[in-house]
Amino acid sequence: MRVAQEVLIVSKRQKTFQLRTTDFYDGAAQRYAEFADQLDMSTILGKFFSTVARGHTVLDIGCGSGRDLATLRDIAAVAFGVDLSIGLLAKARCTSEAPVLRADASSLPVADGRIDRVLAVASLHHLPRKAQIEALHEIRRVLHPDGGKAIITLKVGRRARRDRDTQTRRARVFYLTSSKTFVRRARQSGLCITAAERSTSFRHGRKQAWLAVQVVVATRTSGEPPNRRPRAAWRRRSWVQGPSNFRRGRAAT
Ligand SMILES: C[S@@+](CC[C@H](N)C(=O)[O-])C[C@H]1O[C@@H](n2cnc3c(N)ncnc32)[C@H](O)[C@@H]1O
Repeated sequence: MRVAQEVLIVSKRQKTFQLRTTDFYDGAAQRYAEFADQLDMSTILGKFFSTVARGHTVLDIGCGSGRDLATLRDIAAVAFGVDLSIGLLAKARCTSEAPVLRADASSLPVADGRIDRVLAVASLHHLPRKAQIEALHEIRRVLHPDGGKAIITLKVGRRARRDRDTQTRRARVFYLTSSKTFVRRARQSGLCITAAERSTSFRHGRKQAWLAVQVVVATRTSGEPPNRRPRAAWRRRSWVQGPSNFRRGRAAT
């Protein structure tokens, strides 16, 4: 399955703050892929996947090992992924056989309004404030203005934190913000929140708060201008991540 050439444009840049996190994923690509591939994402992504129709063009931002690209291939979507980690892009290519590109979430190599669905699963928390806002604008820009939808999941919290892989000694950085701040950023980027769900994961005795939001491009007809409070159905859920081969880094997805 191919992504039409006119959907793609040349990628512009990679930011230096990303090098460290990219190094982390490159160094742990095999272990991270084993960990990510055994996660059951149906509770979090199932509802969103049900909005993906055969032939939809779907972009997975921070596609990692390609787990979700493989699911999208199975539902006959025209899916492709971007990521900064060459190691994980290689895994994604094998797992999903989908086209994948090395590109930054805050500067997507995609033409305006060409994408029906966007997934950004556990990737935008690696971007500091300015880059995250740029990434949200990019999601808004590439989504089809009439009915384009996205799901974004990310860790939330009070401050940035580093997470070191004990095998490679490389660290990745999580730029955590509160759910409220993230929702505000999304709305200010022209995205309208249609659902928001908070959850908690427990791994290695460590509690982590997550946010999953579903968004549509805010237009006059979407019924919700971006400057109004979202009609989001906030829900809470707790979940425990399954067994992992990625123990030594003490890292959740
Ligand atoms: C926690 S992993 C999640 C991977 C996959 N979405 C999953 O759920 O398994 C975060 C991914 O985001 C990628 N990433 C981090 N910063 C990025 C950026 N600025 N642009 C694109 N991808 C990025 C990382 O390389 C990594 O593959």
